[in-house]
Amino acid sequence: MPDLGVNIDHVATLRQARLGLVPDPVYAAYLCEKAGANSIVAHLREDRRHIQDKDILLLRQKIKTRLNLEMSIAPSIVSIACKIKPYQATLVPEHRRELTTEGGLDVAANFKKISTAIGKLEKAGILVSLFIDPDKKQIDASKKIGAGIIELHTGRYSEAKGNKEKERFFNEIKQAVNYAGGIGLSVNAGHGLDYANVRRIAGINGIRELNIGYSIICKAIYVGLFKAVEEMRRLAR
Ligand code: PXP
Repeated sequence: MPDLGVNIDHVATLRQARLGLVPDPVYAAYLCEKAGANSIVAHLREDRRHIQDKDILLLRQKIKTRLNLEMSIAPSIVSIACKIKPYQATLVPEHRRELTTEGGLDVAANFKKISTAIGKLEKAGILVSLFIDPDKKQIDASKKIGAGIIELHTGRYSEAKGNKEKERFFNEIKQAVNYAGGIGLSVNAGHGLDYANVRRIAGINGIRELNIGYSIICKAIYVGLFKAVEEMRRLAR
């Protein structure tokens, strides 16, 4: 049974639409925890399009579960993380014009930069996870760089059209989970998961945590955040 990490970035997206105080991601995190979330995920982007520095600081102080800070390997962000000390940092690629995180980190191609960021974060006592595509080359590179945790990008499965494509990308994730688990990595997964597609992924043996944001915040518009998280937790289990 995987844990559920709820990504609250889009609560902040809505707040930033008017540059006001509401909706408050910290209060949203409190509701997510009450509804059974096992961790709170927030991405402090370099462009600060949703989550702001003060949100991370307050989340770190207020939440009762684990704070999983999604972040790029930019030295300025690494230095903020080292000061705030979230429970975990998930390193992701970041591009200015993307709508959301597109694809995983290319660990093999950016070995030195990623290794430097991991060294600094671990020295500050932060667990590090690498967000990568379900690809053997990236899994091997993650192992080689010394990461203990990886998060597999489920975007290709989530966006697949038709049963044949869905099956192909589902198997890709399943094989990646088995392979990574076999070489001693702890495996999380996420991106694009929703109320319709989460169950198959949650059923793969060996996934420790699913990190889900957009679909939960969208559903919360209709049914409220507590119910939206509660239902996702039930499906994930
Ligand atoms: N995991 C990681 C590493 C991500 O970058 C994101 C998106 O911020 C998610 C999980 C959640 O993706 P979604 O919002 O599509 O559920």
